[in-house]
Amino acid sequence: MCGIFAYLNYNVPRSRKHILDTLVKGLQRLEYRGYDSAGVAVDGGNDKNWDNNSKVIQLIKKRGKVKALQDEIYKQDSLDFDIEFETHVGIAHTRWATHGEPNAVNSHPQRSDKNNEFVVIHNGIITNYKDLKKFLESKGYEFESETDTETIPKLLKYMYDNRESDEISLSTLVERVTQQLEGAFALVFKSVHFPGQVVGTRRGGPLLIGVQSKHKLSTDHIPVLYRCGKEKKAVSTLPRVDGDTCLYPIGEETGVEYYFASDASAIIEHTNRVIFLEDDDVAAVVDGRLSIHRIKRTAGDDPARAIQTLQMELQQIMKGSYSSFMQKEIFEQPESVVNTMRGRVNFDDFTVLLGGLKDHIREIRRCRRLIVIGCGTSYHAGVATRQILEELTELPVMVELSSDFLDRNTPVFRDDVCFFISQSGETADTLMALHYCKERGALTVGVTNTVGSSISRETDCGIHINAGPEVGVASTKAYTSQFVALVMFSLMMCDDRLSMQKRRQEIISALRTLPDLIKEVLALDDQINSLAHELYQQRSLLVMGRGFNYATCMEGALKIKEITYMHSEGILAGELKHGPLALVDKLMPVIMIIMKDPTHTKCQNALQQVVARKGRPILICEKNDDESKLLAYRTIELPHTVDCLQGVLTVIPLQLLSYHLAVLRGFDVDFPRNLAKSVTVE
Ligand code: AGP
Repeated sequence: MCGIFAYLNYNVPRSRKHILDTLVKGLQRLEYRGYDSAGVAVDGGNDKNWDNNSKVIQLIKKRGKVKALQDEIYKQDSLDFDIEFETHVGIAHTRWATHGEPNAVNSHPQRSDKNNEFVVIHNGIITNYKDLKKFLESKGYEFESETDTETIPKLLKYMYDNRESDEISLSTLVERVTQQLEGAFALVFKSVHFPGQVVGTRRGGPLLIGVQSKHKLSTDHIPVLYRCGKEKKAVSTLPRVDGDTCLYPIGEETGVEYYFASDASAIIEHTNRVIFLEDDDVAAVVDGRLSIHRIKRTAGDDPARAIQTLQMELQQIMKGSYSSFMQKEIFEQPESVVNTMRGRVNFDDFTVLLGGLKDHIREIRRCRRLIVIGCGTSYHAGVATRQILEELTELPVMVELSSDFLDRNTPVFRDDVCFFISQSGETADTLMALHYCKERGALTVGVTNTVGSSISRETDCGIHINAGPEVGVASTKAYTSQFVALVMFSLMMCDDRLSMQKRRQEIISALRTLPDLIKEVLALDDQINSLAHELYQQRSLLVMGRGFNYATCMEGALKIKEITYMHSEGILAGELKHGPLALVDKLMPVIMIIMKDPTHTKCQNALQQVVARKGRPILICEKNDDESKLLAYRTIELPHTVDCLQGVLTVIPLQLLSYHLAVLRGFDVDFPRNLAKSVTVE
């Protein structure tokens, strides 16, 4: 999806080259989200007095990769790249086309007029843009793009042109504009009328602000400010809350740099001190000082936002020696599942404690049913763990695709507990399902990988899966960590049930050995690569299994589809005779997952059916399953683990297979066509 990055240096002299390089680097860090064009807006002009240059905004936009934009930037003969700015605001964007094709005119920043008086970058969708456009056209404003976004800077200019006083601030104008907008958005503005200022706001889309200052910024909820120097003396300890606005006295004396972004990965190389904005916050930087204003402040609604420390390392979002992020993330799984369990599972006394749920666990135990909601891979994590959730909680468990759940207006009650599974924590459909369940009074639980994400903030409680940043569009390590997190939850739910202790101990012991078993499976990479060489020219691949491994079939098929562009289908083996068997012949590759669990015999029946139709099954099975191996055309042999964790092991060969198939077919593994990492629109 689209990516926002903005950089403001206040009283910190920076060359135009430095500013543009910072903007381009910010966009590069957002590339993984998926996009098809990119653009920047910086101060134009080459006057030695930077103040004069901020009266002109230069827009540079380009279809295609950020690299193409970078080349375009350095082709601009009119710009002196060495000129220094004491204070400057640059905004940059990667666009994933929704309204209008990917081209320079449609890409962001979008502008108010030919003189670029107001420019904006936008993530999300404005649903009432047609009405706004009609209104603005009736007032003589001319549109040049096909985007919904263009209405925003034009509306801003309309408000500015019709201002009641010259004292009006950019932040007030932005607030007025957002009151007219329907839909979801994160926005960042820059204007020639407000030099050196930036304003950002959000409703339904993530936006955070990184702060780089010589001041010591406390992690307390209310930031504390210290003067730099020998005596670290508190100077202006608290940001002032004045009515609906919180003023942060950062940068007053020493200079400061701010980074606005839709994603922490664009900020982390500059600073780990960040403020996550909430919906209806308008954040403005004026004379280096940050203020956050609440648009619709309700009682008890505090405009003060904590300055938090990001627990992310730059190297976590670098590929290292791997050829793609996806490959790196597949191979990180032995560590990422450990990180999901760290400090939560005690393997000696067989206890599990999820800190984020402990205050709510009694209420959850009393609930009437569990509803697990997500999209794509996150939905599959719910399917993968439904059986163990049902077994250990003895509650009815519904697993729902967010979009379908909303389409059906599914009945939800106060005594339901709703889980929202999302790697990004920003998926629009899942976020809307969360709002829907909250309105109906259900207890909401987030299972996310992104600290500070909308879902992690808006749920009543939750589990951070701690898999580390996942950059590849194809989700891999987040899936296995979501899986483990949901298994841990089911274990925590039954820790007081005597009758379940034996089963709990079996699962917890298996969790202990899981990382080593994952390593064993990863060691099959060469074998899987050679299988990929056999299969990569096929048009279609079926993946079949049942019970604890049905989710693996769907997840494996999704991986194959999204990065190899081959047709692939995850089939429940129990449904074989009800239709899919018609697809089986000697040409159709069929991957079958057969593990030694209660479904083993039934899976072997399916295997017989496939062999009888001259199919050549590729088995993912346990090492000692000689009986099944006799019928197989090819086998991938996995170590044994407890039934409910098999899915963590069986999905890995399919992750690796899809990766190798995509490489052999010549596709960009990390940036599959038409897809985005974080789907922030419906
Ligand atoms: C998986 O490989 C996908 N790219 C996709 O299905 C993803 O899982 C889905 O969009 C949900 O994302 P989320 O976990 O961030 O909510």
